[in-house]
Amino acid sequence: MATNRTFTMIKPDAVANGYIGAILNDIIAGGFKIVAMKYTQLTTESAGNFYAIHKERPFYKDLVNFMTSGPIVAVILEKDNAVEDFRTLIGATDPTKAEAGTIRNKYAQSIEANAVHGSDSDENAEIEGNFFFSQFERF
Ligand code: PPS
Repeated sequence: MATNRTFTMIKPDAVANGYIGAILNDIIAGGFKIVAMKYTQLTTESAGNFYAIHKERPFYKDLVNFMTSGPIVAVILEKDNAVEDFRTLIGATDPTKAEAGTIRNKYAQSIEANAVHGSDSDENAEIEGNFFFSQFERF
């Protein structure tokens, strides 16, 4: 059964372009509740670990470089069917394929600078939330 939490990052492109507020507004308007949030910057080591699942993919190094290029906002979100509904709200990984009105359609630049991350499963949502937040920072 689907759990009611997912994890997102507002990526360096969207932070640099001043979209934190607009993206959080869209997320809240989409029915999600923020249960943990942190403004931080990934190191090469931490981004490498976070994206270790993509280690063998050709874009891994570029992805790690991009994700360490500036601050990000890490957020745990709550809603029924959170993982699936959030991926619908953000749209396709490649913003040229993201449906009109989705967060990536509105705020992303490219498949790399694609504004936001969204967990792809309940299991990864739990792992990714725990990666950024201690038990005292999650409610
Ligand atoms: S997904 O959402 O996991 O199904 O998407 P996927 O296509 O597997 O991509 C995984 C993450 O890698 C990023 N990505 C890239 N970065 C740089 N260059 C290229 N070509 C590229 N292709 C994919 C993509 O933005 C995904 O990042 P996250 O943070 O998981 O959304």
